[in-house]
Amino acid sequence: MGGFVKLKKRGANYLGLCPFHNEKTPSFTVSPSKEIYKCFGCGRSGNTISFLMEHEKFSYVEALKWLSNRYNVEVEETELSPEVKIQQQTADSLYILNAFAQKFFSGVLHNTEEGQNIGLSYLQERGFDAAVIEKFQLGYNPSAPDAFASDAIAAQYNPDLLQKSGLVVMRDGRPMDNYRGRIIFPIHSPIGKIAGFGARVIRNNDRSPKYINTPENEIYVKSKLLYGSYFARQAIDKADECLLVEGYTDVVALHQAGIENVVASGGTSLTPDQLRLIKKYTSNLTIIYDGDAAGIKAAQRGMDLAFEESLQVKLVLIPGQEDPDSYVKKIGAAAFRDFVTSNKKDFILFQLETSLAAAAGDSNQKARLVSQIAETISRINKAEDFTRQQDYIRRSSELLKIDENGLNTLVNKFIRERVGKYESKTAPKESAVETEQTEKIFLDEELDELLNRDEQQERAIIRSLLEFGLRKWDEEKTVAEYLMPELEDKEMFDNKNLYSVLDLYKAWYEQKLEPTARNFLYHEDQSLGALVVSIMDFPYEVSENWKTHYEGKIPTREELYLEEVGSTLTYLKLRKIQRLMIMNQKDLEKSRNPDEQMMFMQTHLHLKQMEKELMGRSGTVIVKI
Ligand code: GTP
Ligand code: MN
Repeated sequence: MGGFVKLKKRGANYLGLCPFHNEKTPSFTVSPSKEIYKCFGCGRSGNTISFLMEHEKFSYVEALKWLSNRYNVEVEETELSPEVKIQQQTADSLYILNAFAQKFFSGVLHNTEEGQNIGLSYLQERGFDAAVIEKFQLGYNPSAPDAFASDAIAAQYNPDLLQKSGLVVMRDGRPMDNYRGRIIFPIHSPIGKIAGFGARVIRNNDRSPKYINTPENEIYVKSKLLYGSYFARQAIDKADECLLVEGYTDVVALHQAGIENVVASGGTSLTPDQLRLIKKYTSNLTIIYDGDAAGIKAAQRGMDLAFEESLQVKLVLIPGQEDPDSYVKKIGAAAFRDFVTSNKKDFILFQLETSLAAAAGDSNQKARLVSQIAETISRINKAEDFTRQQDYIRRSSELLKIDENGLNTLVNKFIRERVGKYESKTAPKESAVETEQTEKIFLDEELDELLNRDEQQERAIIRSLLEFGLRKWDEEKTVAEYLMPELEDKEMFDNKNLYSVLDLYKAWYEQKLEPTARNFLYHEDQSLGALVVSIMDFPYEVSENWKTHYEGKIPTREELYLEEVGSTLTYLKLRKIQRLMIMNQKDLEKSRNPDEQMMFMQTHLHLKQMEKELMGRSGTVIVKI
């Protein structure tokens, strides 16, 4: 598991960031002695094999095979479907062929006259040293029509396989080298096997493409590979940052300069699989591109996804006509590092800034931009990223010169829209009543506020319970143990579905089952799950007064959970008391019986006293009513 997740030793266990859900504080725990893992955040657990199945989306058999391969344990196969067998054999053969080819190309580069005079001298001219050429296993394919092909055939490689690998093409029924006269960059899988090649022409010309790549096959799946990932892993881990460049030569040049936490996308936009590959090692992605628009456009396409994966994306533009390769050679390693550090811009804000400049005061365009940025920001919709979201809202509204609260409202609208869509998708068709009930929640915000103020508070207290219930309230009690008796009275809940969640929570808690939000999500009563989703994903509301109280620096809910639990409960109670007072007042007005009137008046005083106590209980409680 340490090969996939950055783990740190904690006592008898290892701890890391869970690869199955987004988190900032590690809760993924591996016990080497029990040979199991468990994430205390999302609840996933299992053994090595189930880890591989879940993480790599392997089948059971694939997981076993991967392990046996990795640790040289022979696995005897009894049954395998013929198709799978063929596919696996092909994959194995391709890896073997690629290893053979790499040795051939490197051999040519170093040991033949043509290789040295053309290939090696080209690399040297560009300033690549022997060590880095060796490390990246660079090579050269001779210009003769079939130098490699004939060698491979002599070594018994099957012509179909040779074609499949892209190393050889058929011309007039004869096998020919595909990368004739080109520099060869082997492309390694994240575990260091050669999955394919990039082949560069020596002299740029218009007749042939600068690079030729391996065609997609059983092992070369472009969307899952990042050039350099195998060599960058440890450095990314150490720096807790991944640099992304466009070109193979950029990666090689930066390595030579001692900057090793770098991978290349190969000039295309990042794919979900590539982002996930990066996310395994770090949450900090820094894109280093040359200033041309094409690269930035390509980068932008991957960004919404990066956002959802909770990657912090920064951008550094290399000035002038330079690219990272030429620039690091020009200014040197130390200056390059400094340049990157001091020129990092937040990608989203950069994008906003440039679009805003392009809009040049056109108010229609600006409106579109506001809506776009709100949509983007709304994608950071994880409780743990709350501070980050607020930060973006603040900085974007500054850039756009619009009201921060207005932008906040807009962002929340986008969040609700998405949660709404999700809910109606997951809600079971037959229970139309339920759907109606949950949809009610996604009315326009203002309306919602007016109509459902009580329900908001009921939701808030259940959310607190689900999120913080298992934490400590004080030395003796958990938050749940504190809250549950306080919420005994069914009448406190207008929304009886919320009371059902509470009821089930109590039952689970008493049976020592984990009453986590996640377990509710998978409850057989799907409407209950949907309700919990809507509670959990609901953006946390920070009251205006809190903002002033903390002078703009808003602590995360994590930091404030005790305060949140306390004040949420107080709000709820206050609201209920005030409602009781209104009802009592009406009864009093109706009553013609002096004894009865007396009783109502006493009730009023009693309620007033309770209200006073509650209001005085906590200095930070602000009555929103
Ligand atoms: P040099 O020009 O030798 O420094 O290479 P480079 O790696 O800097 O190339 P460049 O910046 O032009 O392109 C960035 C990346 O895009 C390359 O590393 C390739 O992965 C890819 N690329 C560029 N040109 C081509 C092409 O003609 N065909 C294909 N398939 N990929 C290309
Ligand atoms: Mn270049």
